[in-house]
Amino acid sequence: MHNITLIPGDGIGPEVAFAVKEIIESTGVKINWEIKDAGDKAFRAVGNPLPDEVIQSVLKNKVALKGPVTTPIGTGFRSVNVALRKELGLYANLRPMKNLPGIETPFNNVDLVVVRENTEDLYAGIECKVDAGRAEAIKLITKDASEKIGYFAFSYAQKMGRKKVTAVHKANILKISDGLFLESIREIREQFPDIEYEEMIIDNLCMQLVQRPEKFDVLVLPNFYGDIVSDLCAGLVGGLGLVPGANIGDSYSVFEAVHGSALDIAGKNMANPLALLNSAVLMLKHIDEVQAAENIERAINWILNHKEKLTPDLGGRGTTTSLTRDLCEYIKENL
Ligand code: NAI
Repeated sequence: MHNITLIPGDGIGPEVAFAVKEIIESTGVKINWEIKDAGDKAFRAVGNPLPDEVIQSVLKNKVALKGPVTTPIGTGFRSVNVALRKELGLYANLRPMKNLPGIETPFNNVDLVVVRENTEDLYAGIECKVDAGRAEAIKLITKDASEKIGYFAFSYAQKMGRKKVTAVHKANILKISDGLFLESIREIREQFPDIEYEEMIIDNLCMQLVQRPEKFDVLVLPNFYGDIVSDLCAGLVGGLGLVPGANIGDSYSVFEAVHGSALDIAGKNMANPLALLNSAVLMLKHIDEVQAAENIERAINWILNHKEKLTPDLGGRGTTTSLTRDLCEYIKENL
């Protein structure tokens, strides 16, 4: 029996989170879910978007599956995602992106992994209003965090049999901050002589990603560029409704979808749970439930080839509940 914290989140969060819980349960894996609210719902209930009991639950269980949470723009409400990553030391954001069967995009042979530094850069939250007409945000880059993410990217590449790591930067302009990031990654790469290494300026990377995405393998980026590039890469393989994400630290891991709370479709039974389900596949592998993870992967590949069963964002006529039921039935029949 595994103990896992489930944070359903806001908007479509509960719809996709409970769908994924049901699909995982159909594999027979035994999980004791500790359900905790964070985000807008928690803020309205207890005045805090990230109540301490959520943190305590993840500290105890070490693993969490999290739906998207709403972050109101321009208010004092601090991003729950950013706070969670900082509180739990989840310094690496991992997003594997691969072409999927049945999902046609203009890009073929995409099979890359975005490794994004998760704790600092412009998201360190060091922002202030200087005067009525001026605001500042500080881009914090440290050698320690850059080395850690570099080590994570290279060891991940080595463990997964990947060939190349590309470090992404803008050190031609941000010579000191991005310069330090690059210098730290260069030092780390010395420990991994078997992995090919290249460096690329962020704007060039964006162009090349939409011209020849197949040439990239593992990308390692500071937080801000990583945030944007991971959504760009999600677009290469079919969009936010599909790709998984994981936030990993030395002791704790939070698995989540890349997409947001999609308030425009919340409550309409249209939300696509596959992104969170793909994140759950990463989670199951992480807790050594490889068989269950592979059963779910097979079911996902099967349903992607039955377009009519998919949700409208993927061109189908299915609903969140019908897709969940179809996946559960397929898994139980093919165990
Ligand atoms: P969003 O990802 O919620 O929505 C963008 C578009 O994609 C919308 O048209 C939406 O309907 C569609 N979409 C997203 N996920 C989908 C799914 N699973 N199935 C079907 N369609 C889906 O991005 P948006 O609108 O920029 O953000 C809404 C809220 O979510 C904001 O408060 C934002 O801060 C928050 N957010 C939270 C994240 C998280 O908790 N990890 C990540 C990104 C945004």
